[in-house]
Amino acid sequence: PKAEFVSELMAKMTVDEKIYQLVQFSSDGTITGPKQGENYITRIEQGKVGSVLNAYGAENTRKIQEINMKNSRLKIPLLFGFDVIHGYKTIFPINLAMASSFDPSAVELAAKVAAAEASSAGVHWTFAPMVDIARDARWGRISEGSGEDTYLGIQMAKANVRGFQGSDFSKANTVLACAKHFAAYGAAESGRDYNTVDMSERVLRETYLPPFKAATEAGVKTFMASFNEISGVPSTANKHLLRNILKGEWNFDGMVVSDYTGVNEMIAHGFAKNDQDAAQLAINAGLDMDMVGATFMTTLKKSYDEGKVSIETINDACKRVLDVKYDLGLFEDPYRYSDAKREKETIYKPEFLEASLEVAKKSIVLLKNDRNVLPLKKEQKIAFVGPLCEDDYHIIGSWAALGDRQGYAVSVKEGVQKLLGNSAKVTFDKGVEIEGNKRDGLQQALDNAKNADVIVAVMGELENMSGEAASRTNLDLPGIQKEFLMELKKLGKPIVLVLMNGRPLTLSWEDQNIDAILETWWTGTRGGDAIAQTLFGQNNPSAKLPVSFPRNVGQLPLYYNAKNTGRPYLGPKDPEQRFKSRYLDVDNSALYPFGYGLSYTTFAYSDLKLSSNKIGFGQKLAISVTVSNTGNYDGVETVQLYVKDEVGSVTRPVRELKGFQKVALKKGEKKTVSFELTSDDLRFYGLDMKFSAEAGDFSVFVGGSSTADLNAKFELAE
Ligand code: IFM
Repeated sequence: PKAEFVSELMAKMTVDEKIYQLVQFSSDGTITGPKQGENYITRIEQGKVGSVLNAYGAENTRKIQEINMKNSRLKIPLLFGFDVIHGYKTIFPINLAMASSFDPSAVELAAKVAAAEASSAGVHWTFAPMVDIARDARWGRISEGSGEDTYLGIQMAKANVRGFQGSDFSKANTVLACAKHFAAYGAAESGRDYNTVDMSERVLRETYLPPFKAATEAGVKTFMASFNEISGVPSTANKHLLRNILKGEWNFDGMVVSDYTGVNEMIAHGFAKNDQDAAQLAINAGLDMDMVGATFMTTLKKSYDEGKVSIETINDACKRVLDVKYDLGLFEDPYRYSDAKREKETIYKPEFLEASLEVAKKSIVLLKNDRNVLPLKKEQKIAFVGPLCEDDYHIIGSWAALGDRQGYAVSVKEGVQKLLGNSAKVTFDKGVEIEGNKRDGLQQALDNAKNADVIVAVMGELENMSGEAASRTNLDLPGIQKEFLMELKKLGKPIVLVLMNGRPLTLSWEDQNIDAILETWWTGTRGGDAIAQTLFGQNNPSAKLPVSFPRNVGQLPLYYNAKNTGRPYLGPKDPEQRFKSRYLDVDNSALYPFGYGLSYTTFAYSDLKLSSNKIGFGQKLAISVTVSNTGNYDGVETVQLYVKDEVGSVTRPVRELKGFQKVALKKGEKKTVSFELTSDDLRFYGLDMKFSAEAGDFSVFVGGSSTADLNAKFELAE
């Protein structure tokens, strides 16, 4: 019925009407680029709009849809899109934090809740998940993705699509997902947003594209082209990416939207002469919808008349847009998502807030805990200090859709007070600001810290220091926060640093001088509860880093699965120190590597066993390891499996993540954890650019971080 319905409808449409389906304008919402000219309502009245960005709210979307339905000759409903990135009203931790959970079911749950809330408020389509691999912490948008690793990125991409779209996304409590930004946006040179990308086809296909492909396999219905160029061709008009790979090799039958004014921006890129040129290049390359830019609306008909764009191309794009509208059930009822009653019943449901707390607890990474300073004890005199200790604004993170902040989001102070009551033993003083050098409250904070048994400094970035257009070259704690820490250090008390930030920071001084460090990222609406429960031991941290933390900015880009080089540096014990691939002033390694994260308990790994030391193509290799909880608390460990292909027709990374599992272990308990590999898991793009495994020797490493050293070897034999 869909195919018939859509083709019958298209048979009645004029060329102009087909083109207008490819046009998106923005309602009054977050503006992340040049403002569009005319009011979008006027354009809807003229019947020139297929989709509206930033439209939400059951009543609001109903009103806009009514205007459209009155004016649309063929009664084609509008599609409403909105950036629901880590929650709609109930805000979950930022995506980088959720990736730290290494728990796809947590990510799926967050997306499901976001979809339930957003869809009840008239939103049909979210511009998420962002599945860009990011290896450079200077890039602010690292906060919106799942970090540096392709395997982890694949799992999180699939979980997000499942969560947003459900198994049947014609259901009214789901939204269309959008895999963005296609492609390699995270590889922007020097971490500067929107910057140039130049990379080999091999790296593109092996590292950056797999999470996108996984999203298509999970059924994602839309894609967003990225702002950047790749090796000279902007993604927005990149035929190789959009037509050959996405719509060709991957058989993607959904639609592709530009990122904001990405079509117009090809003029600044120096790729198109003017709007008409840009629009025809984009649609011919496989872009289906122009977000905000108006180029399709104003020029495509002319290009069609001049023979520059064929009717087949316009038909194909129009069909893709109408197909998703059909799938959403909009032709049956254009208002089915704009349901004020459902909106009221759905937003901030207690179970959603509970889910946000549970996911936040799973997303907090313990980076350091000398002398078991953590967990804190309720009897202790504790001085909470730092600009974020009372914060209920930044804590929900950047791009937090309609999440309510002040007075609604739970601050650390509120979370602690909920746990302890209004204890006289606990003080809260900001001391300094996040940015700038005001020290108004500093003395009071130091005085309280002096009288405490333990100091908890809650510090970090402003929420808008990460996200779009938020690249930074200095990744130290901003403002005078570090100076404040140095003053606190002089007091000689144990110090816990609670960090809130949207990217890896450079923490070399903190690592050497602070007793315990808790990376909480931005934890969402229930953040303060999650942090308080973690500080006081009601939650034992189990998250692991999805990105490497550099020792300094000069190491960037930094990622664990790098190449060995011909002169690998073996560390301080290397007898040949000088002529090695290294820096003179800092070690090559990350300060905190990918996959790393502590617990209040400790885990030991033993008995690594392989089912065989030789497998053939198509055969399975079983890997098992014993994991023991050797500490004093119950806990959850993320067991990680890495593989190294020793010799290839092209060089291979020093190791690559191939599996992970979370295992809950009571104090003193041990369990056997098993993985399975087949030769398919060992595939890569060889010299001939074929995706296949090559016979030879492999090493496996199993442990609690990318530096795991328990290893075994096997051979893949012809
Ligand atoms: O979805 C976003 C994208 O990630 C960045 N530019 C604007 C889009 C729509 O708001």
